[in-house]
Amino acid sequence: MAFYWFSVTNPSLRDQVDMRTYSSNAQLQSALCGFRSNSQSIAFVPTMGNLHEGHLNLVRKARQRCDVVVVSIFVNPLQFGPGEDLEAYPRTLAADKEKLFAEGVQVLYAPAVEEIYPKGMQSQTVVHVPELGETLCGQSRPGHFDGVTTVVSKLFNIVQPDVAVFGEKDFQQLSIVRKMVNDLCMPIEILGVATTRDQDGLAKSSRNGHLTFDQRGVAPILQQTLSSCREAIACGFDNFLQLESHARMQLLQAGFDTDYFTIRDARTLLTVTDDTEEIAILAAARLGSTRLIDNMRLSLNPVSDWGMLAGGH
Ligand code: PAF
Repeated sequence: MAFYWFSVTNPSLRDQVDMRTYSSNAQLQSALCGFRSNSQSIAFVPTMGNLHEGHLNLVRKARQRCDVVVVSIFVNPLQFGPGEDLEAYPRTLAADKEKLFAEGVQVLYAPAVEEIYPKGMQSQTVVHVPELGETLCGQSRPGHFDGVTTVVSKLFNIVQPDVAVFGEKDFQQLSIVRKMVNDLCMPIEILGVATTRDQDGLAKSSRNGHLTFDQRGVAPILQQTLSSCREAIACGFDNFLQLESHARMQLLQAGFDTDYFTIRDARTLLTVTDDTEEIAILAAARLGSTRLIDNMRLSLNPVSDWGMLAGGH
């Protein structure tokens, strides 16, 4: 069956509008035509499921912006490299549906791999974003961002949203999607949402669930190291190489295997120059087999510096 109405056993949720779930592109598109013909705006939140508070914050922003919220849950095999955690990636559709329903999401799109890649992945046309997609995570996970931009383009073409919402936790992904939309003249506004954190500062991520008890205790040090680096820059320390190597040393001592810890121009993700208006400090590091990413930003405009430091992106 291609779609069904979702209702829950939780009585507190019963008085809410039903959420429609589709697994077929054609039926999703025909439902969305209905919303569009009523002049309702559509916000889209693409996810891979295993939803946590970070995803739900994206949904809340989407609800504030548009009449209708469409969420997709699709674990995209094209963005996983050999030996990565595709099989182990948590699939929790029933629990995810309850969460989305409680947030008032109207449409869930949960296609099978065959619906997105009907002719397989080998012959799939690929969307490649040069430069931005080739550095940082693009270097350590070859092909990853091609997989992301390809599936996101397909999902954008299927859903045709007015606004699409992405988390700032994966700042490189957000930058790449913005560039793709701009370069390919896609008529979609990309909305970035600040990272949601646990009380101890750890950025919410589906992968946090893979951490052992001891690793979970160590994990917030990634955010603390980013934060100290940002404070040092805000205080005028401008030897970035020294800051980066000090941070890598701190992470090593805490038990991380650091992939990168780097201070970049937030717009280009290249080295900071005299033209840089905002700095992004980006890190990817493993605890055991779990790869964590996080970032912090700092505006070099003194007026907004206060906001950035107080707001704690
Ligand atoms: O950030 C993610 O969860 C994924 O990369 C995305 C954007 C849903 C594409 O599969």
